[in-house]
Amino acid sequence: MATASAPGKIILFGEHAVVYGRPALAAPVTQVQATATVGADARGGVWVKAPDVGLSAPLADLAPDQPLAAVIRSVFSALGVSRPPDCTVHVRSTIPVASGLGSGAAVSVAVIRALSAFLGQPLTDEQVNALAFEAEKLHHGTPSGIDNTVITYGQAVYFVRGQPIERLKVGMPFTLVIGDTGVAAPTKESVADVRRLWEADPQRWERVFDQIGEIVRAARSALERGDWRLLGALMDDNHTLLQELTVSSAELDRLVDAARGSGALGAKMSGGGRGGNMVALVEPQNAGAVAAALQSAGARQTIITTLS
Ligand code: PMV
Repeated sequence: MATASAPGKIILFGEHAVVYGRPALAAPVTQVQATATVGADARGGVWVKAPDVGLSAPLADLAPDQPLAAVIRSVFSALGVSRPPDCTVHVRSTIPVASGLGSGAAVSVAVIRALSAFLGQPLTDEQVNALAFEAEKLHHGTPSGIDNTVITYGQAVYFVRGQPIERLKVGMPFTLVIGDTGVAAPTKESVADVRRLWEADPQRWERVFDQIGEIVRAARSALERGDWRLLGALMDDNHTLLQELTVSSAELDRLVDAARGSGALGAKMSGGGRGGNMVALVEPQNAGAVAAALQSAGARQTIITTLS
């Protein structure tokens, strides 16, 4: 039997613009995770079980574009396994789906690691990342690759599409409060809507992406220097530009306002938007109060996490 887990992730700065070549910052969120276990199964064939989404079926019955089936088949194909051993791939996840915390990428990474270990051919991080990126294309359409990268390496990263990852150096620990609107919003749709905006007026939106890119670069240096105040202000600025990109929502704005109103240093939506999660930067002693304010403002779940 082989088991592997992968964390969730949060995008701190730069979502959407990252699809257009600008940098983004993201960090793992270890309070939530996906776990895959692969074990021998006497029933014959390969079985796939994901009780969280009500799935229990032989792999052979699943369509080619079913994300879990596609990931499993991609591992067999990468390892040259033409006749897989009888086994069950069992997946559990505490990461909310379609909420910007990287649930799809985390499930992929956990399955790739557990299955390759079960087959006696564990893959390197680079290989895991490449296979998880292929799977992301089914979830997202045109993913930048940031989710699979931060989740595979389990480290805070400064990410530019198509470039080697750069690990983020953090000058002093930062405390974040993440709030879930409870609204499931597929990233694929918001990414496609931004694409339509961009196609209609590329000059305008390239300028917005440039502004976001500048914020990300300033945020990286603020993180390295441990400058909380500046980092909070940059989060607020990034949120304003995401509103302009039309990917925020009334629920996200309400939570962002509640965080700011209860003493957060800054707050923004995170990930694809339209729903899902927001993130606030807080002073450690204020984390509980901000989480309580988010819950009063309607957050389905809050997570307090530290980036160090
Ligand atoms: O919704 P999430 O957290 O999976 O993040 C998507 C981030 C985008 O920049 C909107 C898309 C991408 O592929 O980078």
